[in-house]
Amino acid sequence: MGEKITISDLSAGKGASRKFTAVSCYDYTSARLVAETPVEMILVGDSASQFMLGYDSTLPVTMDFMVTITAAVRRAAPKVCLAADMPFLSYQVSVEEAVRNAGRFYKDASADIIKIEATEAHLPVIKAVSDADMAVMAHIGLRPQSIAKTGKLKAEGTGADAALELIRLSEKMVAAGASMILLEGTAREAAKIITEKLSVPVLSCGSGPDCDGQILVLPDILGLGKGQIPKFSKCYGQIGSEIDKAVRAYDEEVKGGRFPDDARSYHIKTGELTKLQDLLKAENL
Ligand code: KIV
Repeated sequence: MGEKITISDLSAGKGASRKFTAVSCYDYTSARLVAETPVEMILVGDSASQFMLGYDSTLPVTMDFMVTITAAVRRAAPKVCLAADMPFLSYQVSVEEAVRNAGRFYKDASADIIKIEATEAHLPVIKAVSDADMAVMAHIGLRPQSIAKTGKLKAEGTGADAALELIRLSEKMVAAGASMILLEGTAREAAKIITEKLSVPVLSCGSGPDCDGQILVLPDILGLGKGQIPKFSKCYGQIGSEIDKAVRAYDEEVKGGRFPDDARSYHIKTGELTKLQDLLKAENL
């Protein structure tokens, strides 16, 4: 296993035009497998709300839940650059609460960077967390936590004015202290300009190929999700159908009396069976 990957490594990669790969994943077992690959970053995203808990948005997940699963992922992947997602209402109430909650990911889950879905209104939060010596990834563009207000999520930066606004916003995030930008669902052309303009790494989630890094959620990569994956995403495996095959085979063997076989059974020690039979007889059983 190589050295631990840090934010500085990812920043140095930007200078060298080296792309990095990130995966959103949420549990010890999956993270252990991802940690065996050359993927540099794992984000414990609040998309855990849908993929782990079955909610239809990211809003219900709590700080306690996110800290617990982030710590589990860290135990599985001690060397990756670990990003933790600040859930809905963990940073909107006050700057003080935001700093305290961000700190929990460092103290209780050994995260390397925390991600905050941010608009202009959250610049003081980005600044306060960064001033408290924590690395922040500002997530701009399409922001799933805005669903209650917007009712619908759509691609961002697709008009000239909106693209310009997003470019300016990305610069303000960096000026406020963001060490990395995550651009979600943003027009490729705007994402390219942002990536070229900023000194910090820009991670793309559905924002085209010109950013410094790419992120996809593990359930999409593995073919584990239900229904269609987003337009920008890609499925690289059919683990869902492999799971179906394996679980059906197990079910058939159980119902057909073939599992477990004797080789998979524990046995009473030699000589103890006769003793047990005597005991049963004495007890009239
Ligand atoms: O929650 C998440 O997994 C994310 C990524 C999709 C960027 O925010």
